Amino acid sequence: MTSVYGPATDWATDFDHTDPEYNKNIHSIWENLKGSGCPMAHTERFGGVWLPLTYDMVHEIAYDAEHFSSQGVVVGQMKPSQTDALPAPVGPAPPITSDPPFHADARRILLPAFAPKKIDPLRDVVRDFCNDLIDKMGDKEFIDAGVEYAQNIPVMVIAHMLGLPLSDSDRFFDWVHLILEDVATPQEEREVRMAEFADYLNEHIAERKENPGDDLISFLLDVEFNGNKLSDEHVFGTVLLALIAGIDTTWSALGSSIWHLAANSVDRRRLVENPQMVPQAVEEFLRAYAPVTMARVVTEDMDFHGYQLKKEDWMLLPFPAANRDESQFPHADVVDIDREVNRHSAFGLGIHRCIGSNLARLELNTAVEVFLERFPDFELDPNEEVVWSIGQVRGPRKLPVRIKARA
Ligand code: HEM
Repeated sequence: MTSVYGPATDWATDFDHTDPEYNKNIHSIWENLKGSGCPMAHTERFGGVWLPLTYDMVHEIAYDAEHFSSQGVVVGQMKPSQTDALPAPVGPAPPITSDPPFHADARRILLPAFAPKKIDPLRDVVRDFCNDLIDKMGDKEFIDAGVEYAQNIPVMVIAHMLGLPLSDSDRFFDWVHLILEDVATPQEEREVRMAEFADYLNEHIAERKENPGDDLISFLLDVEFNGNKLSDEHVFGTVLLALIAGIDTTWSALGSSIWHLAANSVDRRRLVENPQMVPQAVEEFLRAYAPVTMARVVTEDMDFHGYQLKKEDWMLLPFPAANRDESQFPHADVVDIDREVNRHSAFGLGIHRCIGSNLARLELNTAVEVFLERFPDFELDPNEEVVWSIGQVRGPRKLPVRIKARA
């Protein structure tokens, strides 16, 4: 699939993050841009998008909600003001689409649901599920570690947390794909499919109003916000966010970790022999292959380090590029599983920093550990291509792997 605007013609002045070549070649594209003295790329596509590449710029934008609003976090063909989505400061999916001062409370009410006390008991559930996925592969020599393994784990976890049937997981993939990757689909078609998604969620929310349980939907229906229950729109938006935020992201981070281990036998062997190193290695994979680039909307015409930004321009926030900035990380382009000081930005910077990071780390560490326990030797399938995602969440969508040894 090509971008709706056709292939990018110049990565500095006509870049397109939805061109399939972008995610596939992302590190060399950034390297060339920075090497040619371009710390911030621009395109007229999507009504104007900026792409800053240094840690300092990404940091500055992430901490400046006054000039860079979260009302649009996924770049689309229409600006948020042209759609009928709830405007700032609430936005359609609080807290990720909310601006201050509303954002702080919308975030605070969610924190207990993602605290270690709630998350830690999931470890055994995830471990059993990972083992079941591997059991299902039988004794095949060739597997797709993206489709048969990585993508299933976050969807199971979030369905479990929300109390939604796991048998609907194909529908969740479809909707997540629609929202995060399929930005080329015409707006009318997107709206029809979004309406199906909305009906599905509303049905489950209504059912949980009647029969509350020990799940995140029931928690949101019960929690108080400034002394009141949450509005229906707020509950809906946050349920939608939980479903979207945790799936593609974790799937991508896990897929990239397995991709690295399939291509780097020395690192793989060290982790097989020293499984206690897995958490540190996973932090390095999160740094080096950070999956998530968010977006912001410029709130007024302004000068930003000599660049003339226009009101309603899109501003991408490539946390993955910030993680490859030499000023923050010595030998930033080297994936070094011994890296001990690793204050990476994969989970974001500033007020919107990821709420699900404990959960994501639990899933990633457990899933990598189980994969290495069961498959101590594997490599990339030499006859098949890895296919990378399109758009703001980067990870392998097809990850053909040859299993060379199983335990
Ligand atoms: C490896 C996996 C993950 C990565 C790399 C990741 C990354 C991020 C990033 C970069 C942000 C900042 C967004 C911004 O600045 O606009 C964010 C926010 C958020 N993430 Fe994650 N995420 C992951 C997994 C999860 C999971 C599993 C959940 C929960 C189901 C989750 C829930 C959220 C929420 C609710 C926010 C919004 C926080 C706010 O606006 O205050 N994430 N995530």
